[in-house]
Amino acid sequence: MGGHLLEIGAGPGAATPELRRRVPRVTSLEYDHAFAARLAQKIGKGAGVVQGDAAALPFPDRTFSSAVAILMLHHLRSSARQDRAFAEVHRVLQPGGRFLAFEVPDGWFNRVIHTNSTFVPIHPETLAARLTAAGFGGVTLDQRPGGFRFRAARKN
Ligand SMILES: C[S@@+](CC[C@H](N)C(=O)[O-])C[C@H]1O[C@@H](n2cnc3c(N)ncnc32)[C@H](O)[C@@H]1O
Repeated sequence: MGGHLLEIGAGPGAATPELRRRVPRVTSLEYDHAFAARLAQKIGKGAGVVQGDAAALPFPDRTFSSAVAILMLHHLRSSARQDRAFAEVHRVLQPGGRFLAFEVPDGWFNRVIHTNSTFVPIHPETLAARLTAAGFGGVTLDQRPGGFRFRAARKN
């Protein structure tokens, strides 16, 4: 994961402490102001928690060695915004930087549990083309019952 990881859509921070144990520096981005404020309080001073939108990342080009999005992409309002987020992640990664994401598939169960929130499922078979269009290479996909993860790398 390199020296500086971007965690996108950190929410209440379920994964944040573990990521911080594994990587020297983590910046956690969260769209929801209340979640972001609570997470900053939980992690402590100089926490590196930033309120912002995955589709308009508030960071300079080539800032991070890696980026992770855990159960966040389906919360973006449209597939166009997901593609915008892919392009933004690519922009803020350093050459060779890795992007890793975990997602849930489309299906009645995931639609029901998102009745009161946004659910724009990512269709795994579209990922290679979408990530390639955003500039990524080395796309790999690992599908399991109930979820899938994918990886991609910024080429240069
Ligand atoms: C299901 S939660 C996952 C939280 C955390 N990654 C985890 O696995 O516990 C999705 C999070 O994505 C955040 N989110 C939604 N839209 C976002 C956006 N445009 N940019 C950044 N975060 C966003 C939500 O506020 C929410 O906290």
